[in-house]
Amino acid sequence: LGVTGPLAGKRVVVTAGPTREAIDPVRFLSNPSSGKMGYAIADAAARRGAEVVLVSGPTNLEPPASAEIVPVTTADEMNVAVRELAGEVDVFIGAAAVADWRPVHGARHKLKKSDAARLSLELERTPDVIGEVAGWQPKPIVVGFAAETQELVANATEKLARKGWDLGVANDVSAEGVGFAGDTNRVTIIDASGETEDTGLVSKDEVAARVLDRIEQLLDR
Ligand code: CTP
Repeated sequence: LGVTGPLAGKRVVVTAGPTREAIDPVRFLSNPSSGKMGYAIADAAARRGAEVVLVSGPTNLEPPASAEIVPVTTADEMNVAVRELAGEVDVFIGAAAVADWRPVHGARHKLKKSDAARLSLELERTPDVIGEVAGWQPKPIVVGFAAETQELVANATEKLARKGWDLGVANDVSAEGVGFAGDTNRVTIIDASGETEDTGLVSKDEVAARVLDRIEQLLDR
């Protein structure tokens, strides 16, 4: 039984949600990502006939019915899970809000607050998941998300070129109704030639549709 749709026969990998970086067994560093944007993209890609793998940090969302879900917790786990898919990916979409730093020494036992009035955490960089993907041969179409609070287009265009992304999806997370937790978003989609498309404030499903339309155009070339 063949799958139909414009993305039939394509393998699409989406990362979504936050990651958690352990301080000790009961505490972690994370961010307010809900995972909604990435789940909307995974669902829409599956509906267009793609074979979808959704590598997801912890969320409260129902996984899309026709996507394969790979649950992860940390940036390191996300990196390993994505790396295992190398070689069979046509499109990679990095919608996850990966923590950029993690505690260098995650404590094996719960830190007792009686130990100190102040606590300093030493942090180190986490692996750049999408950065590894952009180095794969053959290289999939790589779509990155860029959260900016100023100079949206200039910063995102520079990021696209520096990181080898084919499309950048930039949102101004300081604007009302945009970004992390809600059901709406407003993004500017930027391509390698520097052309930009502003979606205006729309549902995350509509953003997903616009991003996939652009990916289809790139696959057709
Ligand atoms: N990303 C990733 N692995 C990381 C960090 C980010 O895969 N360890 C991906 C996200 O999924 C997203 C994009 O990279 O697609 C976000 O990049 P961003 O963190 O905005 O880029 P930076 O250059 O780190 O941002 P800035 O320079 O503004 O700190």
